[in-house]
Amino acid sequence: MKIFSRLRTRCGHLNLKDTLRNNVGVRYFSSEFKLWSQRIFSGIQPTGNLHLGNYFGAVQRWVELQDSGKDVIYSIVDLHSITLPQDPEELRSNILKVAATLIACGINPEKSILFQQSKVRQHTELCWILGCRTTMPRLAHLPQFKEKSSALKDVPLGLYVYPVLQCADILLYRATEVPVGEDQVQHLQLAQHLARNFNNQYGAVFPIPKALVGDSHTSRLRSLRDPLKKMSKSEPDPRSRINLTDTSDSILEKCKKAVTDFTSALTFNPEERPGVSNLITIHSLLSGKSPQEICNECASLDTGRYKLVLAEVIEEKLKPIREETVRLMADPVYLKTVLEKGSEKASLIAEETLLDVKNRVGLIAL
Ligand code: TYM
Repeated sequence: MKIFSRLRTRCGHLNLKDTLRNNVGVRYFSSEFKLWSQRIFSGIQPTGNLHLGNYFGAVQRWVELQDSGKDVIYSIVDLHSITLPQDPEELRSNILKVAATLIACGINPEKSILFQQSKVRQHTELCWILGCRTTMPRLAHLPQFKEKSSALKDVPLGLYVYPVLQCADILLYRATEVPVGEDQVQHLQLAQHLARNFNNQYGAVFPIPKALVGDSHTSRLRSLRDPLKKMSKSEPDPRSRINLTDTSDSILEKCKKAVTDFTSALTFNPEERPGVSNLITIHSLLSGKSPQEICNECASLDTGRYKLVLAEVIEEKLKPIREETVRLMADPVYLKTVLEKGSEKASLIAEETLLDVKNRVGLIAL
């Protein structure tokens, strides 16, 4: 009863039951019983072309969430991308290309805040404060760090601190939900840990952010060259991924070269036949048909001929995205303006949180 009277006080004029039932408006309450505005945050690195894994694991949902009635903030996380070496000209161009591709996919700068991470200095400041509360063993155990650092002789400090910066991204906006692919779940768990840890000492400063991860198919598309690995921007073989801006020839070539197995019939069995099942998954996500429907429809085709059908389905979906990206890339002034306005809006929210944090920690003289 005590809890509900506290909630009622915080909800003010809102009907408490409706508030808790609806997905819109003020509804989230953390272990401190504080109600938080619903806010979505996510980020993407400008380290190359966006691919189908990024699209189905994250961007498609980012677009849908714009109509959820919640605040929506998406960041091109350039500071994360420099944790590994980048060519300056390529990075500059990739930042705009990612912005263009996101807009071509349906991110609407009128509905969401789209911004470049390094333009909002509060990310690095909060990263430092959170870094002072993170232990080294916790970071060393994160799978993405282990995977990326294992290939390096000298591991940059930035790569080690990467997850803390990601937590700062999320907590700076007091995000309640974070739409990501499966590979980001451990980073989200760190953000939850840091939010709880900070709240325990200083009071209800952060909501506990929840990862919004799709089903097992969308949340982890596999490499076309090695279906035991995820589709990734950093995989050296470009044939391992279908980029959202690939030409029809390139899509056809990559589909033809996709690794399957020695069985020519089309069957869906991700455990036993990961290669062909990954192709059917992509087809299913693009067409809305179930894997079984696709296998029935294409029963007369061997995997070689099926790959040609798949290439056509991919081309149909990607052609408008590719054309719109090319059109937007021809207008860098527009893209820079979108990012600038986004950064201005993001900075306002970021500054409010950072002031609160600095004040609680004792960094501001009263
Ligand atoms: P990044 O740039 O690697 O990927 C962006 C998003 O795409 C998802 N993704 C996939 N989903 C399904 N199948 C795949 N093969 C696949 N590959 C990538 C990723 O899970 C991600 O959601 N650390 C993040 C960027 C980041 C961030 C953040 C994300 C920085 N700060 C704060 C969320 C919140 C990353 O490297 O994403």
